[in-house]
Amino acid sequence: MRVLFLGDVVGKPGRRAVVESVPHLLATAGADFVIANCENASGGVGVDPRAASELLKAGVDVLTSGNHIWAKRDIVEYLRDSDVLLRPLNFVPASPGRGFTVKRSRSGVDVAVVNLIGRVFMGNYDCPFRAVDAALETLRPRARVVVVDMHGEATSEKVAMGWYLDGRVSAVIGSHTHVQTADERILPRGTAYLSDAGMCGPRDSVIGVKRELVLDRFLTQMPTRFEVATGPALLQGALVDVDEGSGRATAIQRIQQTVDV
Ligand code: FE2
Repeated sequence: MRVLFLGDVVGKPGRRAVVESVPHLLATAGADFVIANCENASGGVGVDPRAASELLKAGVDVLTSGNHIWAKRDIVEYLRDSDVLLRPLNFVPASPGRGFTVKRSRSGVDVAVVNLIGRVFMGNYDCPFRAVDAALETLRPRARVVVVDMHGEATSEKVAMGWYLDGRVSAVIGSHTHVQTADERILPRGTAYLSDAGMCGPRDSVIGVKRELVLDRFLTQMPTRFEVATGPALLQGALVDVDEGSGRATAIQRIQQTVDV
């Protein structure tokens, strides 16, 4: 089977790129299952129920998130009820929502998705390594194909998670930095790995934000309100081929397209 993983969807340009490209990619790239990180999908920070629904309607099967998931207040109720919008598993257990889910692909394969968040340069979250161990115990009888979104700033922590999970999950793909890395590979025990999938969002920007506003903040060190940039969007992510019998990945290929939105 083939899984399409899309990097952080940023604002309206990112949503438009997903809505325009995913149906096409499902047909042409032969993807059976689509995962997208949506934590910046509404106005560049957070996601609201309308944006989440728009992405799901476009063909995304599971939405992952990260540190900005609480930015839009009305997502809390949505997250409580949804089994396809995830928040990081290693948030404290009392936080609403769930950190993993199992959904059936278009080709009839049960796919588990686990959403983790790193701690290096991020925040005081629970340990993602111990959290994923416990989740995999629960998931083992339910799905052979397991895809992990490791939302984090530091490549070292993401690479470490790749090695930690090699042979235990089908793929570990990073998100959060909005800059795609070129280190895709299949690890020795059959886990596909990529440090960061990149972003689906405005290309001529600073990680999705209007570049003049970011430059202004760097140059003056004054507080500035950030706005999502406009113009053509990048659609970045990866296609992962998985042997559904063993759960091992056989190939990983980065994708990067420019979409006029
Ligand atoms: Fe993030």
